[in-house]
Amino acid sequence: MTDRPLADTAACVFDAYGTLFDLTSAARRCGDALGDRAGPLGALWRGKQLEYSWLRSLMGRHADFWQVTGEALDYAMAQLGVAGPGLRERLMEAFLTIDAYPDARRVLQALRRAGRPAAILSNGSPRMLAAATASAGIAELLDHVLSIEEVGVYKPDRRVYELATRRLGVAAERVCFISSNGWDAAGAASFGFKAVWANRAGAPRERLPAQPAAEITGLDALPALLGL
Ligand code: LAC
Repeated sequence: MTDRPLADTAACVFDAYGTLFDLTSAARRCGDALGDRAGPLGALWRGKQLEYSWLRSLMGRHADFWQVTGEALDYAMAQLGVAGPGLRERLMEAFLTIDAYPDARRVLQALRRAGRPAAILSNGSPRMLAAATASAGIAELLDHVLSIEEVGVYKPDRRVYELATRRLGVAAERVCFISSNGWDAAGAASFGFKAVWANRAGAPRERLPAQPAAEITGLDALPALLGL
């Protein structure tokens, strides 16, 4: 790794869920109904959501992320024995208007001030991404909001990352791709992006075939990496 692996960045592309948006917020908002099951339900819901995205991609049976998110929630509620009037609808609605991390807005504002293009590239469906970016107040700070629905397969398929190079008109090696999901950072690095792993959870490094160019603990560290 060089001292400034990201100095040549022409555009920043962010993962959405877990990176800009706080995945724990949806279940937490239903804390009145869930009590101490909010944490375990949120974690199982997210795990199943990703598992189903990967399995559907392998099976060649694509469905959009709204459907996958609902099916994952059904599984998680069944496994943990969680039920309640209108609870499923409330949890899904909370996911639609999920909270952004405070550092998400700060980093997007810093990029805007520096005149650097910023985009989202996410598994989320266009409707989910439009709702989340609007409710978090970050829509106007993004130059592109790209959904995998355009290619009909989930991350980390190469066609997803390729979509961003095509739509932004930027070569892969000049894209800085930022994700808090280690497997997504690995997929992006494997494709040829300069990947930054925003390791919010302090997780061990993934044992996957490509490594990120840099690791940070939150998004506030990104501008310095870019030399801004
Ligand atoms: C996304 C998933 C990985 O936003 O959370 O693409």
